[in-house]
Amino acid sequence: MTDHNYDYDVLVIGAGPGGYVAAIRAAQLGLKTACAEGRETLGGTCLNVGCIPSKAMLHASEYFDAAKNGAMKELGIDVEPKLNLEQMHAQRRDAVKGLTGGIEFLFKKNKVDWKKGYATFQDAHTVKVGDETVTAKDIVIATGSSVTPLPGVEVDNDKHVVVDSTGALELPQVPKKMVVIGGGVIGLELGSVWRRLGAEVTCVEFLDEILPGMDGDIRKEARKIFKKQGIEFKLSTKVTGVTVKGKTATLTLEPAAGGDAETMEADCVLVSIGRKPNTDGLGLDAIRLETNKRGQIETDHDFRTKVDGVWAIGDCVPGPMLAHKAEDEGIAVAENIAGQTGIVNHAIIPSVVYTWPEIAGVGLTTEEAIEKMGGDKKAVKVGKFPMVGNSRAKTNHDPDGFVKVIAEAESDKVLGVWAIAVPAGTMIAEAAVAMEFGTTSEDIAYTCHAHPTHSEAMKEAAMAVQGKPIHV
Ligand code: FAD
Ligand code: NAI
Repeated sequence: MTDHNYDYDVLVIGAGPGGYVAAIRAAQLGLKTACAEGRETLGGTCLNVGCIPSKAMLHASEYFDAAKNGAMKELGIDVEPKLNLEQMHAQRRDAVKGLTGGIEFLFKKNKVDWKKGYATFQDAHTVKVGDETVTAKDIVIATGSSVTPLPGVEVDNDKHVVVDSTGALELPQVPKKMVVIGGGVIGLELGSVWRRLGAEVTCVEFLDEILPGMDGDIRKEARKIFKKQGIEFKLSTKVTGVTVKGKTATLTLEPAAGGDAETMEADCVLVSIGRKPNTDGLGLDAIRLETNKRGQIETDHDFRTKVDGVWAIGDCVPGPMLAHKAEDEGIAVAENIAGQTGIVNHAIIPSVVYTWPEIAGVGLTTEEAIEKMGGDKKAVKVGKFPMVGNSRAKTNHDPDGFVKVIAEAESDKVLGVWAIAVPAGTMIAEAAVAMEFGTTSEDIAYTCHAHPTHSEAMKEAAMAVQGKPIHV
């Protein structure tokens, strides 16, 4: 029952995977709920300009690439592919429309009121959304994130020359030469899309290796595979400026450690150097809520901020900026508001790069595991199994990659699992469930895995922790 002093029990600000899930779960728990969203459609970054449209382009371009690079010919299918980019974009827009409309349906089904507009705090229980003032006993901030700008580089998505991830999803033509600034998840996914469709792609990365945060072996192997596919890399290099003349961009590059500058031309530049939390314009001053140095809103384990009745989840709080992390926090925050115990195990959040092959991991990297053991390498055991030894991967002509299981030597408890394999994103779910139950490598090794599946490589990597895989 609603507290009579407020319009709603719960108001969620932002309808991305964090916010819309929080709103639906709050409503399911019997709380009168509204969700404010400024975008014209629900679903946030993820459904509108992130996970879903990027996967639509990745999926379609995978087929094109397989037809063009001879992979289909090898299977006995002779095709001469012709790109219909307009149709590829149309199917992407269709996927987005279907899924964002689906959230609208779920809001209606669960009786969540959508307040259309950007919300600004008036006090801890009151926000303004457009002309409307809405009050709620509890308010959840789920405002997500947006692109981090690069000083000296002006993004103009409409001109299609210097773009961010949103612009890179919408290019009306395949660029001849594309430079991706940042060898992170967006750069590699969207760089792969346009490379497959015919662009020459160069990735400029500030650090000495791509995919920071992932396991060291995985980072090296991933770069080798992308290079084989035709992506060029300039590591330990920073972009200090981009000038545009007509349809050509000229980039100025410098060694990250300092040194002589060089220039490079491209007809498309993708800026993908990270994302920053959305907190500007939210009126946090009105409730005296400060952000940390990275602009994030800090919370406790229950997702409570320092202000009573105000909670925060998703990309605008610390932790990986991932849709499934935001969703799980959405469920947990709603359960906590309803007086239940909502928990997210932040140590076990899988991450996946949806390239070909996919790259996935959960838990600690080898480097983190050794550090956790006080730098003692012998305290950590690693089992590795190459996909070339997996019958299904070999039969499907996809031998690239490996699975790696990292365990504590003494207890055999699994600390992390990493994989490069065509379906690594799906395979990693097994590792996440097993780790959630405190698995040992032996538990995985003695669990029967269906044959022939790529997942057998997970079992073999676990067997390799004890030095006894069968198929290598
Ligand atoms: P968001 O999805 O950003 O949603 C926040 C919403 O709040 C937005 O719709 C915004 O309009 C709204 N909002 C902001 N301020 C206000 C306000 N004051 N009032 C009202 N509304 C407001 N993650 C994955 O896990 N897998 C992927 O494959 C993946 N692919 C991605 C691809 C790209 C190109 C990008 C950019 C991101 C990708 N991500 C992926 C990351 C994922 O999109 C985010 O982690 C996720 O969307 C975060 O969810 P959220 O609910 O915290 O915020
Ligand atoms: P990112 O943080 O993944 O990678 C950014 C990269 O840019 C880093 O490698 C960094 O070292 C590099 N960089 C930073 N400044 C630079 C500079 N001046 N010059 C050259 N390189 C520089 O960020 P990205 O790719 O923009 O993605 C943002 C977020 O979106 C990620 O945190 C990710 O979690 C999320 N995302 C997730 C996806 C998935 O789960 N599959 C897909 C796409 C995005």
